[in-house]
Amino acid sequence: MTLAINGLEITLGGATVLDGIDLRVEDGETLAVLGPSGSGKSTLLRAVAGLLAPSAGTVTRDGEDLAGLAAHRRGFGVVFQSYALFEHLDVSDNVAYGLRMRDVPKPDRRERVVAALALVGLGGYGARTIDTLSGGERQRVALARALVVEPEVLLLDEPLGAIDGALKGRLLEDLGRITVDRTALYVTHDHDEALTIGDRVALLRDGRLVAVDDPETLWTRPPDVWSARFLGHPNVYEDGGPFADGPCLVPERAVGVGGAIGGTVTDRRFAGDGWQVTADVGVPLRYRASTAPAIGESVSFTVEDVVDLAG
Ligand SMILES: Nc1ncnc2c1ncn2[C@@H]1O[C@H](COP(=O)(O)OP(=O)(O)OP(=O)(O)O)[C@@H](O)[C@H]1O
Ligand SMILES: [Mg+2]
Repeated sequence: MTLAINGLEITLGGATVLDGIDLRVEDGETLAVLGPSGSGKSTLLRAVAGLLAPSAGTVTRDGEDLAGLAAHRRGFGVVFQSYALFEHLDVSDNVAYGLRMRDVPKPDRRERVVAALALVGLGGYGARTIDTLSGGERQRVALARALVVEPEVLLLDEPLGAIDGALKGRLLEDLGRITVDRTALYVTHDHDEALTIGDRVALLRDGRLVAVDDPETLWTRPPDVWSARFLGHPNVYEDGGPFADGPCLVPERAVGVGGAIGGTVTDRRFAGDGWQVTADVGVPLRYRASTAPAIGESVSFTVEDVVDLAG
């Protein structure tokens, strides 16, 4: 199933929250929608789900305009950012909801609910009530509820937002497998998640798309400095400078002496997976290094290490 969004505009409370959005999600593709808080990601997902009417533009599924088709008739599996669980039902009944609506027979239902709960790591939680669950557990119930009906199209709004650590890594892998043959719109503010799960990534800023590309292209050729920073490039250098006319990126490593551009280390901070270093190369240049250089140490960079940004 393909989804197409054309010229989509959403106005809320008098403000234009989304403007001129054109996107296609191909059959079986996972499109990650990445952007900072307030950029319009949930609004986009809710418009596709059928919960918000566009002030302009269309959403189509396999070429069929979905305007006027109620959310529950669209057949999409949806995980909302707010989970939207039924507080008065237990975990099993929450997960079974979509199956009941589809008149799946009870024994079959029970089996599928158990499998869906096991998938999200909540085996044995079936009889618990929602108010006894942690945030991450609720989120996984919401995920199980969307997955159990095996929808052709999945709309996921920060489905792992309340989950961290090893469980997040495992669920991300599981989601990767689950979405492989499905058409999916995967909303996140987490660049690692977007680059890992997306066949393509749409980058949203202030209600507009700034880039739509496969993860590798987006990572190696971000359209501008803002995108490079938001994607998590540790070494973004801007305002022209010694390398090129216009902004550029310096990759992860500082190369040994003998490179073309020299400088002196002026600051270094431990950053978990490495060191955030500032060197004076005529202007301050920040970069990431795996080992700590000494303040005052000479460093140099080769010009080949510099990636020009388009535009
Ligand atoms: N009903 C509304 N009335 C007015 N403004 C709204 C309404 N709903 C959302 N907005 C605004 O639209 C913008 C986009 O909101 P949205 O929830 O889509 O952002 P988001 O990218 O999902 O952010 P987050 O990462 O925090 O979830 C925000 O500035 C928000 O305040
Ligand atoms: Mg949101």
